[in-house]
Amino acid sequence: MEKINIKGTGSFIPQKVVPNSYFEGLVDTSNEWIISRTGIHERRMILPGQALTDIAVPASERALEMAGLSPEELDLIIVGTSTADMLSPSAGCILQHKIGACNAVAFDVNAACPGFIYGLTVAQKFMQDGSHRLALVVGGEIVSQRIDYQDRATCVLFGDGAGAVVLGHSKEGEDGELISTQIQSDGNLWGLLNVPGGGSLNPPTYRMIDEGLHYVKMQGNEVFKHAVRSMVDAARKTMNSNGVPKKKIDWFIPHQANIRIMEVVAKQLEIPMEKVIVTVHKYGNTSAATIPTALDEAVRSGQIQRGDLVLVASFGAGFTWGAALFRF
Ligand code: ACO
Repeated sequence: MEKINIKGTGSFIPQKVVPNSYFEGLVDTSNEWIISRTGIHERRMILPGQALTDIAVPASERALEMAGLSPEELDLIIVGTSTADMLSPSAGCILQHKIGACNAVAFDVNAACPGFIYGLTVAQKFMQDGSHRLALVVGGEIVSQRIDYQDRATCVLFGDGAGAVVLGHSKEGEDGELISTQIQSDGNLWGLLNVPGGGSLNPPTYRMIDEGLHYVKMQGNEVFKHAVRSMVDAARKTMNSNGVPKKKIDWFIPHQANIRIMEVVAKQLEIPMEKVIVTVHKYGNTSAATIPTALDEAVRSGQIQRGDLVLVASFGAGFTWGAALFRF
């Protein structure tokens, strides 16, 4: 089987900065509480009228530019998101139109925060048999529109962003490789984290809006425990099944939901925090975007270099979780 590698990375973070102090005027909270319980100092939000693909387009174009490829060369586009522009069609199809990727097949994967890892996994399967040669995998989310700004337990946590990678087959002399992906889910736990309104169960009605069913509902404590357990499990399985000891990992990019979750996961995996890429303090939890945006920033700043071994792990609503291992 031909090796697959990451040819380029890109990201786009909205310019509007929303500091913790913004929430002090809305709910009973404080900058100190938010920083000490989550590690978040500020997050970014889109401007009114912007949709997911408005931020996915620049992220994708930057990834294509780094890869030295034009959009027409893509034959696969997968967008990991649970906040697409509209219920139908997919964000993938709208992105395909906007960037002019006329030769690709495009679709979304709705797996909440691990949407990017799910997307990588699906792309890997499409590419392993050689039927698809160049894939754009996006993780993007506009969570700021799904937040109840009267619910202090959720409103302080999230932000908007989009990240992307271009995958292709390795050429001779290239040492990058998407080594392994693995994804899991447990639908029994869907009730602990969801957005109940807007779908077929609670279609858009005045009652649905009045009851706030279009907002994120979360039992934070329970989510916290499962997030730690699942990310540690997925990361361990991935390292073990590939015979990679923890000391060989150059960089670990966990889902950026809460610095406390990330610290516990890193501790349990015995990966020192110096090897953990952290962006949660400045962007909050951008759901499916946290890993590809953190990856892109680390690549562009020179932190992650070609040849480095990178482990990523994520967890989210479903519950869904997974991990991936690649040599950049
Ligand atoms: N400001 C002040 N107090 C708050 C706030 C706030 N913003 N939010 C909650 N509290 C209060 C609670 O009401 C509670 O008060 P009480 O004791 O009077 O009932 C108290 O703080 C403690 O609440 P806990 O839920 O125990 O606080 P905890 O330390 O667990 O932190 C948090 C809450 C930050 C939500 C944490 O549970 C968490 O990060 N959970 C995981 C969330 C997450 O990662 N979700 C997304 C993952 S999946 C995805 O990304 C889609």
